[in-house]
Amino acid sequence: MRIFVPLSLAVLALTSLTASSQAPVAPKTPPASQKVAQTPPMGWNSWNFFFDKVTDKDIRAAADQLVATGMKDAGYNYINIDDTWEGQRDASGLLHTNSKFPDMKALADYVHSKGLKIGIYSGPGPKTCGGYEGSLGHEEQDAQMYASWGFDYLKYDACSFIPEVMEKQAPHDKAEQMRIMQAAYVKMGKALKATGRPIVFSLCQYGWDAPWEWAPAAGGNLWRSTGDVQPNWDRIAVIGFSQAGLEKYAGPGHWNDPDMLEVGNGHLTFAENRAHFSLWAMLAAPLLAGNDLPNMKPEIKAILTNRDVIAIDQDKLGKQGTRGYAEGEVEVWTRHLAGGGLAVAVFNTADNGRFASHPFHLDLAKLGLHGPQKGKDLWTGKPVTLTNNEPIEMASHDVLLVRIDAPK
Ligand code: GLA
Repeated sequence: MRIFVPLSLAVLALTSLTASSQAPVAPKTPPASQKVAQTPPMGWNSWNFFFDKVTDKDIRAAADQLVATGMKDAGYNYINIDDTWEGQRDASGLLHTNSKFPDMKALADYVHSKGLKIGIYSGPGPKTCGGYEGSLGHEEQDAQMYASWGFDYLKYDACSFIPEVMEKQAPHDKAEQMRIMQAAYVKMGKALKATGRPIVFSLCQYGWDAPWEWAPAAGGNLWRSTGDVQPNWDRIAVIGFSQAGLEKYAGPGHWNDPDMLEVGNGHLTFAENRAHFSLWAMLAAPLLAGNDLPNMKPEIKAILTNRDVIAIDQDKLGKQGTRGYAEGEVEVWTRHLAGGGLAVAVFNTADNGRFASHPFHLDLAKLGLHGPQKGKDLWTGKPVTLTNNEPIEMASHDVLLVRIDAPK
């Protein structure tokens, strides 16, 4: 349910991506909130599969499944409830849950009893994107309530704040509107900090006003850098490949968020699912699965639990990868890893079979590499040597992902 049309925001977000490449503002004194999310958060979020239909029962089932499928052991440890859990405020301003979530404290206790953490959703506006109650004017009260229930993560979604607060308070004054938005996120960041509970703070305002420049100082651990993802290759590719240039803003405790995973959703092919997962790993993106866990197919589980690919995403150095070069419909990306290693990902973005520049040959010099490079193909698990001579064959929308431990 999207009342406030995030799709149009997506267009603006992409515009802001290109318009914002000024000098990076790295936080000098990391706020206390950066003790969490030292690597990109991993877990599962209700939105991409359940949308507004999610219930307490679905959240419990998802927690059970994270454990049963081995996803928890692979690193997925947050179960995040997205929009549509909210009910009405009482006379004291206290927000109650709706009938889909009869007892949040009991639910949080259940998720914690599985050795997992739990996340919740709200926004700075009067209403959420789904038209439910937002936190405007109740920020401290809501933050205290999340902490008292035992929540470990908050996704804070701008939505109605844009038309109802920013545009009403400062019509036609873009700079003032953005100041108002930043202040709203700072306010919730402070409210979360005041609870004394470590709570991951996830900003969701679709990349408006270059959040990568100010979100860390607002206590943000991750910030959406784009409009909403969808379970189709075109949208995934637009979002993922638009991240080049943002790598300098990411690091332990503060990450760019190109939105949650669609692996296993819609009609994505096997190649598309693994290319999506590979690209998000190269981007040091949060890995928040959003699929139907109780009915997950084995090949989807194999993608989501590929430890070698997860290790790229969760690499301790925390350096986001970027585009090495693009040639025709082939994208070649690299990511520097702890210990001097390098991940190289080659994507075939062509829609129909073979890419235009077929046969494709790598140009290792363009990646700063010299001569053949021995590595591991992270999808076959086999040793591979990258050279300039060997043509690379790939299906449409597929990926070759290689880890080179000792690049030359
Ligand atoms: C926006 C967000 C989505 C989701 C929905 C919920 O569209 O970008 O990720 O949280 O709101 O209403």
